[in-house]
Amino acid sequence: MSTYQRPNIQRMQGYSWGEQPKDGHAIKLNTNENPYPPSPTVAAALSNFATTDLRTYPQPTADPLRQRIAQLHGLSKNQVVVTHAGDEALRLAVTTYVSPGGTFASTNPSYSLYPVLAQIQDAQTFNVDLETNWSIPADFAAQACAADAQLTCVVNPHAPSGHLSRAEQLHRIAEDISGVLLIDEAYADFIDPEIGYTSRELVEQHDNVLVLRTFSKGYSLAGLRLGYLLGNESLITPIIEKTRDSYNIDAISQRLGIAALEDQAYARSTWTRVREQRQLLAQQLSELGWACVASETNFLLSTPPSDSIGAEAIYTRLKAENILVRYFNHPRLDDKLRISIGTEEQNQVLLNHLRRLVR
Ligand SMILES: Cc1ncc(COP(=O)(O)O)c(C=O)c1O
Repeated sequence: MSTYQRPNIQRMQGYSWGEQPKDGHAIKLNTNENPYPPSPTVAAALSNFATTDLRTYPQPTADPLRQRIAQLHGLSKNQVVVTHAGDEALRLAVTTYVSPGGTFASTNPSYSLYPVLAQIQDAQTFNVDLETNWSIPADFAAQACAADAQLTCVVNPHAPSGHLSRAEQLHRIAEDISGVLLIDEAYADFIDPEIGYTSRELVEQHDNVLVLRTFSKGYSLAGLRLGYLLGNESLITPIIEKTRDSYNIDAISQRLGIAALEDQAYARSTWTRVREQRQLLAQQLSELGWACVASETNFLLSTPPSDSIGAEAIYTRLKAENILVRYFNHPRLDDKLRISIGTEEQNQVLLNHLRRLVR
C-alpha cells in the first residue's frame, strides 16, 4: 500500500454509501430518493440542450440559477452559493470554516458523512447525544461552545429519525454558539406546510447561519448532483470566491436546475404525495405493531415488534426479496429500520412482505 497519503487520510475509513442495486427491478427504499420522476420541464430542458453549449465553460458562479434560488427563498443572490449537491456544500463548509486540528460539532446520531469530512480536514469531531425523543438537548449550544466548535451542524428535519426541531430552538442555538451553525435541510421540502417552518429568518437574522438545501430529494434529481447553501453574504462570499472549484456547476446542471425550480407546482405535488404516503405507511406499520418516529421527511425510522425476528434479520430477508431498506449497525439504531417512502404500490409490496415476515 502507498504511504504517500497524509496520515489522517491513511487512518480514515471513508464514507459507505447505501446499496445501489444493479438490476432495475429492486424496490429501493434505502437512500431516501423521491419516488416520483423529475418534472416534465426538466425532461424538456434536457432534450432541448444543445451540445454545442458544452464547448465553452459554464457561467462560473451559476448566476441565473443562483438568482432563481434567491427569489424562491426571498433572499438576495449574494446570500446563495450553488454546489455539487448537498455533499459538496458540506465539504465546502468544513474546508472554509474548520481549521485542521479545529473542532466540528454535531449530534449523535447524524448524517454519517459528517465525521468523514472532518477526518479529511484533519479536524476533531464533537458529538452530543440527542434526547430519547430525538430532539436536540437544551444545553447543545453550551456544549458546542465549551468544545470550541468552529462549525456546528444539525440536520433538520433530522436524519435518520425524521424529527423536526422548531425554528425558535435553532435561533437560540445560533445565538449561543461561538462559530458557524450549519442547518442541514436536505429533507425540508417534505415538512408539512401547516407547521410554518421557514429558514429565511434564520439566514436573515444571524450572520453565523448556513442553510443547506438539495435538489436530490424534493426535486427528484439525486442523479444530477445539485444543491446550495444560503447564508449571510459574509459566509457565502469566501466560498464563492475562494474555496469552491472555479466552475463547480456544469452547464447542463445549471439549465436543469432552473427548469426544476420553474415547475414548483409539480415539485409541490410530489411533496404532498410523499406526505400522504408517509402518513398511510406509518399507520399501516403501526397496525402491524411497528413503532415509527413522527417524521417530517420522506422516510420513517421504524422499530419492528419485540416478538419479531428483529430489524437486522428483517433487513436481510427483505433484501433477499429485492426490497432494500436501510439498517444501521449503531447503538441507538440497531433495532430499527429506516424506510424511504415509496410510491403507493412499492409501499404495499413492502407491507405485504412485512406481514408475512412478522408472522
Ligand atoms: C442529512 C443529509 N444531508 C445531506 C445529504 C446530501 O445529499 P446530496 O448530496 O444528494 O444533496 C444527505 C443525503 O442523503 C442527507 O441525508
